[in-house]
Amino acid sequence: MTANPLIITAVLLLVQSGALAFKIVLDFSSMSHQEITKSAILQATAEVCKARAEQLGQNFVLPNPLTVKSLAAACSYPQAARKFQSVIDDIKDENRDVDIRHFFNTEYHFDDESFLQGRDIITQGVSTVKANIQQKNFETARETLGEILHPLQDFYSHSNWIELGNQSPYRNLIKPDLPINNIADKSTPTCRSCVDDNCTGNILESIITEKKLTSGYFSATDTIKPYGKCSHGGSLDKTKETEPVGGINKDSFGSDHGHLHLQAANMAIAATKELLEDIGASVGINNFLRLMGISQTFSVLCVVIDTSKSMADDIAEVKRIISLIIDGKKGTADEPSEYILVTFNDLDFGPLTKTTDAEEFKRLLNAISASGEATATAKKCLSGLWLALTGAPHRSEMFVFTDAEPEDVELKSTVLALIESTKSTVNFLLTNALSAQSHVSNPSNQLYQELAEASGGQAIEVSKGMLPQASSIIEDTVSSELVMLFFAVRNQSAAEDFSFLVDSSVTNLTIYITGFSSNFTITSPSGMSQYSTESNGTLGMIQTSGNFHTIRPHSKNGTGLWQISVNSTQPFTVKVTGQSVTDFLFDIVEVVQDPVPGYTALDSRPQTSGNVTLLLSVTGGDSLKLTEVAVVETMGTETVNGSLEDQGNGQYLATFNTVPRGSFGIHVTGQYSSIQSSQISFQRYSSTQLRTSGVSVSAVANGTWTPGTTFSLPFTVETSQSGGSFSITVRNDRLYNMTFPSSLVIGNGGRANGTVTLTAPSDTPSGTDVTLTIEAAAPGDSDSNYVVLRLSVVAGVGPAMSLSLSLWKQNN
Ligand SMILES: *[C@@H]1O[C@H](CO)[C@@H](O)[C@H](O)[C@H]1NC(C)=O
Ligand SMILES: *[C@@H]1O[C@H](CO)[C@@H](O)[C@H](O)[C@H]1NC(C)=O
Ligand SMILES: *[C@@H]1O[C@H](CO)[C@@H](O)[C@H](O)[C@H]1NC(C)=O
Ligand SMILES: *[C@@H]1O[C@H](CO)[C@@H](O)[C@H](O)[C@H]1NC(C)=O
Ligand SMILES: *[C@@H]1O[C@H](CO)[C@@H](O)[C@H](O)[C@H]1NC(C)=O
Ligand SMILES: *[C@@H]1O[C@H](CO)[C@@H](O)[C@H](O)[C@H]1NC(C)=O
Ligand SMILES: *[C@@H]1O[C@H](CO)[C@@H](O)[C@H](O)[C@H]1NC(C)=O
Ligand SMILES: *[C@@H]1O[C@H](CO)[C@@H](O)[C@H](O)[C@H]1NC(C)=O
Ligand SMILES: *[C@@H]1O[C@H](CO)[C@@H](O)[C@H](O)[C@H]1NC(C)=O
Ligand SMILES: *[C@@H]1O[C@H](CO)[C@@H](O)[C@H](O)[C@H]1NC(C)=O
Ligand SMILES: *[C@@H]1O[C@H](CO)[C@@H](O)[C@H](O)[C@H]1NC(C)=O
Ligand SMILES: *[C@@H]1O[C@H](CO)[C@@H](O)[C@H](O)[C@H]1NC(C)=O
Repeated sequence: MTANPLIITAVLLLVQSGALAFKIVLDFSSMSHQEITKSAILQATAEVCKARAEQLGQNFVLPNPLTVKSLAAACSYPQAARKFQSVIDDIKDENRDVDIRHFFNTEYHFDDESFLQGRDIITQGVSTVKANIQQKNFETARETLGEILHPLQDFYSHSNWIELGNQSPYRNLIKPDLPINNIADKSTPTCRSCVDDNCTGNILESIITEKKLTSGYFSATDTIKPYGKCSHGGSLDKTKETEPVGGINKDSFGSDHGHLHLQAANMAIAATKELLEDIGASVGINNFLRLMGISQTFSVLCVVIDTSKSMADDIAEVKRIISLIIDGKKGTADEPSEYILVTFNDLDFGPLTKTTDAEEFKRLLNAISASGEATATAKKCLSGLWLALTGAPHRSEMFVFTDAEPEDVELKSTVLALIESTKSTVNFLLTNALSAQSHVSNPSNQLYQELAEASGGQAIEVSKGMLPQASSIIEDTVSSELVMLFFAVRNQSAAEDFSFLVDSSVTNLTIYITGFSSNFTITSPSGMSQYSTESNGTLGMIQTSGNFHTIRPHSKNGTGLWQISVNSTQPFTVKVTGQSVTDFLFDIVEVVQDPVPGYTALDSRPQTSGNVTLLLSVTGGDSLKLTEVAVVETMGTETVNGSLEDQGNGQYLATFNTVPRGSFGIHVTGQYSSIQSSQISFQRYSSTQLRTSGVSVSAVANGTWTPGTTFSLPFTVETSQSGGSFSITVRNDRLYNMTFPSSLVIGNGGRANGTVTLTAPSDTPSGTDVTLTIEAAAPGDSDSNYVVLRLSVVAGVGPAMSLSLSLWKQNN
């Protein structure tokens, strides 16, 4: 059956039940795809770490129990635990979402004896993952990997491989050059009816003795299946009602072949591990560990710099400052694992260059020189930032240097979409402050402020020459363990008190207040106070440059509740950060309730009407738990408490019946055990500020895309509000030629379809990824939404070669 968006929507209700695959939301004793995936990744990564230790002549002790935290430590990068966790989450989520996206595609589940097609998905996906890794496109590689692990794991639950008595995984599934032999042909009966719901022994003896491969037939809508064939079975499968009745799946202990569930799940773990090792053998130890987020450091230094004539002095300063910062971080846990540079000026922008080598980055930086028109007043700043957001890993810290307003304001909504989607933080260092005495912001910087605030970053305004002081922000934020303890924005004058909790895991507590004419008093938990004008007081050091105030407490112990009272005649932001292993990651998800609860990650803004649901994941230790969650208006005090539902494995579903109208951040409260085993409370904020929309944009990429070919991507725009002409904007970061409708007419509460076509030039390197944003704006620009997709172009080695196009997950 062909997947069609309308039908997909209708069956969303069914797919989370677990009848289709290793996935039972309610039955905690059975193994899910998520647990299988996590377990295999831990085991495979342990092997690779061991191999690396041997190479280096070091000792490797396999930790027991094997957890994300213990393995990161055993691999000698304990600080990588959080990144490793987020990588596992991303891969697991992608795996889980196959049940929604490819519900009707039997080959994704090895149903209906679709062995050859299922094997092709796996082997083609493995090629794509390897090609993506060779191009250093690790995020895309993780998505594809998660997607192909689903069919691989389903094979052991849905086929009769286990019933045939096999004791090890079927290697031919991951080897394109090995044949898949002995598939029961379409006319060969494979099952007999179950007796009184007992399906043990329902596979025909002839199938078993002849070692014929078969799998269960499945349909949620139809009872028809080929004569004599086994069914998948379970509550959603209608074919099980047709003779031979009953099924053979091993998805859970309660399944028709539930007595083999554990065997199937363990075999799926072993198969997943083999596939990971195959990838590891091909890409090498270091690339494999980077794919898993295990590296000495994983902070990224991403610099977007204006190279217009007027920036000549600033460029010299940036070169000097960045070199100093790089040298200062060298050999520490905060040394960036990757450096990204994007240039722009008044005429042009790009390219984006990436390197893992600090010296190479310095050379790239030193090669920059000022050019363009001396008199130009507006720059292609958003274009440069757009490239950076598409090219950098998710959750990067970015620093944009410029001294003028953006010329390319039409990119604002695309940049906002990518900020929300990648969860990267953007800081602007603007050297166009009106004058040293001025107590108001330069109006040219308003758009930059908006973008910074949406990302949890800051727009720092200084006069030229004050750049060195302001750039301490770079030194502070290029850190492996940066966490947000508080964030608020006020877009007009205000006198307000803020408070935030610091737990004992936090070090390097730093408070930033950005705003002109902001007078503030800070009070520590022990009652010490300091006023904004005291640069060195009892509490700490306060440094001010332009609109940017940094407060660093003297005391290493900041544990307890802090107060900040701000009185300002101008807009301001308050941001508090620290370093800690304890943090949380989030994804916006779409929830389905019937017949059992489930969810899938959303690649766009959640809907204004209806509940907003987040999947939260805590990092930093096994004793951590979340106790409260709230969404907090970014520019005000409205707070809405959510309800938390523990999903196990450190994951929680947070549901909000309503959210603030404008943008809002996420605020979590939780607990962990201290060394003395007393419970310690912690609080964290999200950097990314979210918003809802009454418009929805959805697209499912499907098909093959090879260099020199054109790819068609259908998409659907829907509104829950009044209709009209919705303007459509589509952008791809490789600047490939595209066609798409510039507008779609939609009725009140209606929907409309469009198609994007993209052409990849014939010299596109295999493994290239393309970030595509499709945006739809309601009439009058009153509301808008987007979907972000990441596509791969993979060169074929034979006619069967294709590639996987997968939705770009936020993930954490
Ligand atoms: C992808 O497209 C092919 C051919 O058009 C179709 O058979 C298949 O069902 C589609 N798969 C999905 C997941 O939409
Ligand atoms: C189910 O059938 C098998 C053989 O067909 C038998 O060994 C087993 O005891 C039966 N189980 C139950 C619960 O009746
Ligand atoms: C964080 O604190 C440690 C020790 O207190 C110090 O060595 C380090 O330089 C600090 N890092 C930053 C970015 O200030
Ligand atoms: C400030 O933000 C609030 C809430 O987003 C908005 O209603 C108000 O108009 C804004 N005020 C100014 C001066 O921009
Ligand atoms: C840190 O300060 C808090 C409050 O001032 C105090 O209760 C706590 O004992 C201190 N912790 C340490 C380790 O000094
Ligand atoms: C700040 O004041 C403390 C004593 O209050 C002093 O020890 C320290 O050197 C001062 N720091 C600077 C940078 O002046
Ligand atoms: C804020 O400052 C203004 C002007 O200095 C003053 O009139 C006002 O009382 C202050 N508000 C608070 C709450 O301190
Ligand atoms: C902030 O403090 C300065 C100097 O202490 C004062 O001139 C100014 O009026 C104050 N502003 C507010 C809003 O209180
Ligand atoms: C929203 O969530 C509540 C529980 O918090 C649930 O009762 C309600 O049915 C949900 N509404 C929708 C539209 O899903
Ligand atoms: C939200 O929860 C907090 C902590 O439990 C509580 O203090 C606050 O009153 C709640 N707010 C609302 C609006 O229910
Ligand atoms: C886009 O199409 C034009 C005209 O067909 C062609 O000249 C150009 O090379 C294409 N650009 C790319 C990036 O494929
Ligand atoms: C949109 O496309 C789907 C199939 O992809 C189709 O079922 C639906 O009717 C289309 N909607 C409109 C409004 O054309």
